[in-house]
Amino acid sequence: MHVDDAIQSRKSVRRFLPTPVSRTTIQHILELAARAPSGNNVQAWNVHVVTGRTLQTLGQAMLEEARDNPQNCVPEYGYYPDQWVEPYLGRRRQCGFGLYEVLGIERGDTERRQQQMLRNFTFFDAPVGIFITTDRRLNTGSFMDMGMFLQNLMLAARGQGLHTCPQAAFADLQHVVRLHLDLADEEILVCGVSLGVEDIEAPENALRMPREPVEAFARFYG
Ligand SMILES: Cc1cc2nc3c(=O)[nH]c(=O)nc-3n(C[C@H](O)[C@H](O)[C@H](O)COP(=O)(O)O)c2cc1C
Repeated sequence: MHVDDAIQSRKSVRRFLPTPVSRTTIQHILELAARAPSGNNVQAWNVHVVTGRTLQTLGQAMLEEARDNPQNCVPEYGYYPDQWVEPYLGRRRQCGFGLYEVLGIERGDTERRQQQMLRNFTFFDAPVGIFITTDRRLNTGSFMDMGMFLQNLMLAARGQGLHTCPQAAFADLQHVVRLHLDLADEEILVCGVSLGVEDIEAPENALRMPREPVEAFARFYG
């Protein structure tokens, strides 16, 4: 696959088929992800891969915590601002409303919106969940390295005919993840990724999020 095709065909998939992904394939994707550059080559990423019964148990535990105790769901780092400003606010709304629209969820239907949000925690039915952590003793720059690792992972998945959904939602459930997986105290849960085969029949997977044209974000000098 040409790199352009891998980039163009990557999208956030929010309904997967139960088709399993082999350990060899996961290993291959992680090897490619780890070719990501990082400042001073510190490679400060760790991953925790969950499948099978662990995924089921942890997924259910996260879903219940997010549903029943949202006040306990606090991430260890700030991904989003407390106060949204334009143009980000509008794009964020477009993202949410776009998803509800393809799913036929009315804007005022808070119950179905909540049900959809909770699907994050069961990995949108994917057979593989990957948690990405970094080391809190480093600095904010390491989050750039995490982003590069994450993007490599998602593109490498495309190379295997697989799809992904990157999910910061898991950061809110770090306290539950710690109960089930072996995270060191210095590990900070950055995000998770659902990995598997796309359900091409699912309306939510037809969503193609727009991007601003180059002229909107680039200036050329000289
Ligand atoms: C770091 C990161 C965290 C994200 N967290 C979530 C999430 O928790 N749940 C979700 O459904 N989508 C999540 N997304 C997906 C974004 O909504 C998506 O990337 C964006 O709308 C653009 O759509 P596309 O990925 O299909 O191009 C996340 C994306 C990134 C890069």
